Amino acid sequence: MIEFTNNIVVNKISIKNILKQINSFYLYDYKKIIYNIYIINKLNLYCFFSMKSNDNLYLLKIINNTINKFDIVSIGELKKIILISKQKPYIIFSGSGKTLVELFFSVKLNIFCINVESFQEIFKIYYIMNILKKNINIMIRINPNIDAKTHEKITTGKKINKFGILISNIKNFFIISKILKINIIGYDFHIGSQIEILSPIKKLLHLIYILYKFKKFQYLDLGGGIGVNYYKTKNIIKIKNFYNNIRYLLKKKKINSKLLIEIGRYFFCNTCTLVSKINYIKYNINISICIVSTGMNDILRPSLYNSYHKIESYNLGKNFFNFFGPICESSDKYINDNNIKVKTNSLFILHSSGSYCKVLSNNYNSKNKIFEIIAYNNKLKIIFKLEKFKNLINNYE
Ligand code: LLP
Repeated sequence: MIEFTNNIVVNKISIKNILKQINSFYLYDYKKIIYNIYIINKLNLYCFFSMKSNDNLYLLKIINNTINKFDIVSIGELKKIILISKQKPYIIFSGSGKTLVELFFSVKLNIFCINVESFQEIFKIYYIMNILKKNINIMIRINPNIDAKTHEKITTGKKINKFGILISNIKNFFIISKILKINIIGYDFHIGSQIEILSPIKKLLHLIYILYKFKKFQYLDLGGGIGVNYYKTKNIIKIKNFYNNIRYLLKKKKINSKLLIEIGRYFFCNTCTLVSKINYIKYNINISICIVSTGMNDILRPSLYNSYHKIESYNLGKNFFNFFGPICESSDKYINDNNIKVKTNSLFILHSSGSYCKVLSNNYNSKNKIFEIIAYNNKLKIIFKLEKFKNLINNYE
């Protein structure tokens, strides 16, 4: 990982000097990315990269050259893959609200599989198959009504969630698919993201065992969800143990389907830091306040999910606790668990910012999307340029 010291120098350029010219940027570590891909490859599973977690074209090229399998949720993501890939990648199309156009292109391009989430969706696919005179593989996404014990906003497998088909409807789904002659190749589950313990998955595997006895399938897609250690010191299950346990339990229950997974967060989360600086310090009656240059337009997770990103800073000043972004919203603030010594213009670094951060950034307060930079062997490369003002006004009549 890139070591942050008082003055980080990469390719003879000091990060402090960069920050004199630009306010904030995402900084990726190439070596760490390659290491994570190595770890995931070593799992020896069919892993599809869930590109909603990070869709930077440069990073997608790395995934394409190494993993070559993608889990997508929109035609925009599909087009990005087509743009960057030379050899045909494996694609799973997930999501509960696919449009007719999205389904049309998936069938036309004969992608590996569509994960179907409703009866109406399968009728749409049937309609398209008839127009194009083509078949497509589907998996049935099941809502198992199992709590993944994660944040409520990223829980997807409970019956109050919008995702998947309820167990009670599966039988009818099979009957309809048979009448429509649609090829179901597997069961698909994704019960949530940032899963830190194994017990929900154990529960899920028990249900899968019952379903498997009812009907066997070639593929079992367990979705994504493996948690990442945002706190570094927290005790959460390691990726290797997580999947070894799953493999062991599947073997024990004699479930022979090929195991597919759709990992997103784990690939890039800990390979990236959001670098910015302290812009203002002020003392109100009961609270001292630091305003930093990066806000909820660049990184929405803290205000959307109250999520923690470890804060680091260098420039020994006074102890501060409360850090806020520049956006005109009270919720534009960072969760902090430590006093941090800073003064105006100190670096302000948010760790674990490689997944679901840049992709969720937006133009609120008419702010431009910021740079993404990658460091490789002490060299820096810009992989996303600061968005131009013209992009903010282009679409107005
Ligand atoms: N497959 C499906 C069907 C999904 O919906 C997701 C994530 C994944 C795979 C990848 O899950 P992962 O391995 O990344 O946990 N914005 C939230 C996370 C939303 C996750 C959405 N679905 C956050 O910042 O925590």
